[in-house]
Amino acid sequence: MASTETTHDDLARRLEELQETERFDPPEEFVAGAQDTDDSLWKDAERDPVAWWGKQAEDLHWFKKWDSVLDDSDPPFYTWFAGGKINASYNCLDRHVENGLGDRVAIHWRGEEGEERDITYGWLHEQVQRFANVLKDNGIQAGDVVGIFMPMIPEVVVAMLACARIGAPHNVVFGGFSPESVKERMETSEAKVLVTVDGARRKGKTAPIKPAVDEVLGDVPSIEKIFVVKATGADCDMQDGRDVWWEDALEAASPECPPEELDAEHPLFILYSSGSTNKPKGILHTTGGYLTGVGWTMKHVFDLRPDSDVYWCAADVGWVTGHSYIVYGPLLNGATQVMYEGPPDYPSKDHHWRLIEELGVTIYYFAPTAIRSFMKWGAELPAKHDLSSLRLLGTVGEPINPKAWLWYREVIGLGETPVVDTWWQTETGQIMITTLPGAQYMKPGSAGTPLPGIAAEILDESSGEKVGANTQGLLVLTRPWPGMLRTLYKDKERFVETYFKRFGPETYLVGDAARRDSDGYYWVIGRIDDVLNVSGHRMSTAEIESAIVSHEVVAEAAVIGQSDEDTGQAVTAFVTLEGDREGDDELINAIREHVAKRIGKLARPKRIIWADDLPKTRSGKIMRRLLRDIAEGRELGDVTTLRDPDVMQQLQGKIAEHQEEED
Ligand code: WTA
Repeated sequence: MASTETTHDDLARRLEELQETERFDPPEEFVAGAQDTDDSLWKDAERDPVAWWGKQAEDLHWFKKWDSVLDDSDPPFYTWFAGGKINASYNCLDRHVENGLGDRVAIHWRGEEGEERDITYGWLHEQVQRFANVLKDNGIQAGDVVGIFMPMIPEVVVAMLACARIGAPHNVVFGGFSPESVKERMETSEAKVLVTVDGARRKGKTAPIKPAVDEVLGDVPSIEKIFVVKATGADCDMQDGRDVWWEDALEAASPECPPEELDAEHPLFILYSSGSTNKPKGILHTTGGYLTGVGWTMKHVFDLRPDSDVYWCAADVGWVTGHSYIVYGPLLNGATQVMYEGPPDYPSKDHHWRLIEELGVTIYYFAPTAIRSFMKWGAELPAKHDLSSLRLLGTVGEPINPKAWLWYREVIGLGETPVVDTWWQTETGQIMITTLPGAQYMKPGSAGTPLPGIAAEILDESSGEKVGANTQGLLVLTRPWPGMLRTLYKDKERFVETYFKRFGPETYLVGDAARRDSDGYYWVIGRIDDVLNVSGHRMSTAEIESAIVSHEVVAEAAVIGQSDEDTGQAVTAFVTLEGDREGDDELINAIREHVAKRIGKLARPKRIIWADDLPKTRSGKIMRRLLRDIAEGRELGDVTTLRDPDVMQQLQGKIAEHQEEED
């Protein structure tokens, strides 16, 4: 057997060779079994996109069919499926149970310490009805906002669907946010109820959640009740008249709660997301259109076969990826999925591969940043496990650099599996740009093309005119789509201002820079606010990062524009190296040259700062704003959303060293 050393070299060589490959066709075997294998869906959709979405909506159960698919008489306020009556929880649960699928596993839940709960559709159906009754018994009605602050346990799904059952929009706050953020989001949404846990497990320790919430939530007058799931048995005070144990309430409640027949445009949830200001935006999604968009994309982008696939989206329910592709998408389709409580490096760095092997996972969907961590941890870890059950891989959340894409396909997908790079946003609700895995070839680094029914364009930043192939501009969406946000909660003006002011009410401004190549494939470069201007040349941090990361010893990089006397902005790169490789001057030069070769001399980083780790949110996004702050010696803003706040201190030390050297 080859030594690990040789295997490592072989893989490096193979990846190097593959870098020259621009297109990857899906394997024949995949195409043979795939739902979509040609462009007929696009052709159908283009004939009449609105009618086409109407046809897709027929896959859902409607208590009453809509009168019109789309009312676009008052842009940017669109109405989908006016007159239709629908219920999200009925579509996710009741109709599967009625079809005899009550015993099908909906969620293979796995706990941090190896606990196993295999949750069926029947169980979810009963629990959801019980909690829906609890909410109703406590005076919650359609339209009342329910806050949810929970870790990755099945009860979070029960809570969300119970809200949907009675028409109470849920407002989920990601479990890694600080209690202060929970408070702010409860206040601004005027939530009447909060559902939370006593404590949450974090890598063998217990974080006290309820006590932390109590410290700040006391003065939110709208909160009438707090339901507390006994997730860990951690001590917590229960306030008389306000706080109720989840388990006691569910046991006492009736197991039957008929679903509310809600308007198609009834609010399903609010999800706060960061904008360009400090104040998060309350993105509002409604029911009929959102379910149509999410249900359809789940089925086609993941080529889902609900009766044989085991699907795993390793994101957190607290982000839109979790809302759309852990909760609503899979459950609407009657899929079986995996839900893991802990982070990918606990109890060991190969835990995901272990679970894929044990549960026979066929579709795996995760973020590029995680893939780069896996790369850093080494190909030996996945190699210890049988990953042959995987037939499709996906990524979401940020541009994926070709090196990570290739590693993912080669090492996790065993050189065969298609990789769908899915571009979308909290605002879009559903996947918008990607490849349908049996019908389109893939290009590493490009998300793909707009899905059937979706229309995108690239506009020139100053003139607003369409730009030609291979020219960078602003990504816009030029046609309404069913899963789109309807407004910002209680902030119509900001909704119009943020998304529809620049190019008018019928052109949605995405906030990303992108280009389209001559094959019609989109290359999303990054947020507009992450675009640099060095000596009048516009460049994307993501593009430079990708170049740096494609250097063989680099694991990860974050690039920022640092104010510079000479050039306006200068490129500063924070670089993490692979394994225990140490950075030195020689390597600095090598990386600069590498970037010069990949993009051009002007993109070469002026400064390279070696970093053991980068500041990331718990969902894995690099917080470049914080890097800019420390690089420019500003006071640090809020670091509570970071996965590891200590990273910032280490980096500050490094920057100080650097500055001393430069002086
Ligand atoms: C970025 C996450 C490139 C993009 C679902 C977008 C991506 C923002 C991709 C939305 C992708 C997401 N390729 N960039 N496949 N997916 N993005 O709201 O900048 O957390 O505007 O939604 O992430 O992030 P959000």
